[in-house]
Amino acid sequence: MMMSRLPDSRASCVACDATDALAAHRAAFALPPGVIYLDGNSLGALPRATAAHVHAVVEREWGDGLIRSWNGAGWIDAPRRVGAKIAQLIGAGDDEVICADSTSLNLFKVLACALRLQRSAADAAPARRVILSERGNFPTDLYMAQGLIELTGAQHELQLVDAVDLVATIDTLGPRLAVLMLTHVNFQTGAMHDMDAQTRRAHAVGALTIWDLAHSAGAVPVNLRAAAADFAVGCGYKYLNGGPGAPAFVFAAHRHLARLRDDRFAQPLAGWLGHRAPFDFDAAYTPAAGIERFTVGTPSILALAALDCGVDTVLAAGIEALRAKSVALTELFIRLVETRCLQETLRLVSPRDAAQRGSQVCFAHPQAWPVMQALIARGVIGDFRAPDILRFGIAPLYVGFADLWDAVEALRDVLDSEIWRALQFQPRQAVT
Ligand SMILES: Cc1ncc(COP(=O)(O)O)c(C=O)c1O
Repeated sequence: MMMSRLPDSRASCVACDATDALAAHRAAFALPPGVIYLDGNSLGALPRATAAHVHAVVEREWGDGLIRSWNGAGWIDAPRRVGAKIAQLIGAGDDEVICADSTSLNLFKVLACALRLQRSAADAAPARRVILSERGNFPTDLYMAQGLIELTGAQHELQLVDAVDLVATIDTLGPRLAVLMLTHVNFQTGAMHDMDAQTRRAHAVGALTIWDLAHSAGAVPVNLRAAAADFAVGCGYKYLNGGPGAPAFVFAAHRHLARLRDDRFAQPLAGWLGHRAPFDFDAAYTPAAGIERFTVGTPSILALAALDCGVDTVLAAGIEALRAKSVALTELFIRLVETRCLQETLRLVSPRDAAQRGSQVCFAHPQAWPVMQALIARGVIGDFRAPDILRFGIAPLYVGFADLWDAVEALRDVLDSEIWRALQFQPRQAVT
């Protein structure tokens, strides 16, 4: 959606919605009346099709089909089938992506593989010792890396730097760098890495790359193949609208899948469904030939049924069109907050350049928690991230221009009335 001029009144926002080709997609979601939902980067909205589809899977496939549905209803293929749909959104081959487990677990699996691939059989200790990541990366990625390092006898180390220092650190580490492990769009700031450039840089020193696409899949166009990325993981419950705790996905490039067949490089969570022939019930583990080797145990069929509907909502709109609208919406949101909320206490945390930003906008405010609580009480649902961030996820499938106008008016009202001062600051309260 190309926009020569950003709307500057509620009426012009309404006019933008009226000509927006994606506006009709909002009807595909069951959003409660009176709510402006700006938290799709945490939990995507409920697609209308989901309840009926899950109901049918429960009643017909489970109720009537019983165990026959593993084959009769294609349950056994569901992780690959839904994975192949996600592959279209992230520039991957349909045999390079599979749905499985959580993002955290998938990260553990691909990191273990990447470290194994980097290790020469002749080495007593790995020459490439360092896993490099960003200090502001989502903590689970860092925890999984730390856990894996401990489990494997501290042969590797996790080095964390600020985003601005990544390139220099890659070059300095050179032959000591094993894996560059980054989240494409930062969960806290919405800042987006240049995947092509960072991957190229890492490859230039012989390192492998792992991309966490939790805040990218369904939000921004990703082309893993064009970037020559090695591994990737991501969430199903954010912009893919798969529902709370939806299965995650994992990507491994063809060139690595071929090598991972070798026992020395197999992913270490050797569950029976990742076996080459699970129903042979062989006592010895032989990894499956393809991406299936990243599965561990029995997939959650009901959760996959919901994720399937969620991914369909994104495919129906088209990721390029979604990105164009997302850029227009995030630009508008920043402009409106900065011009209408005359608060010197508000500071834009997300990149100002849309090309470096995902589909969320964050502002810092010293009283971010009570401000967000007051906003939520008015039906504008964003979220708070410690210590001081107001986070607004802007999912263009179901957020419109007038929504943003109204959300900013609510924010202005909250800040002007200082209603939030009545709420006690609770920086460590649980957030959803
Ligand atoms: C960047 C990132 N990675 C991983 C996760 C966690 O994923 P999971 O709960 O599926 O392990 C999140 C959750 O918000 C996230 O933002």
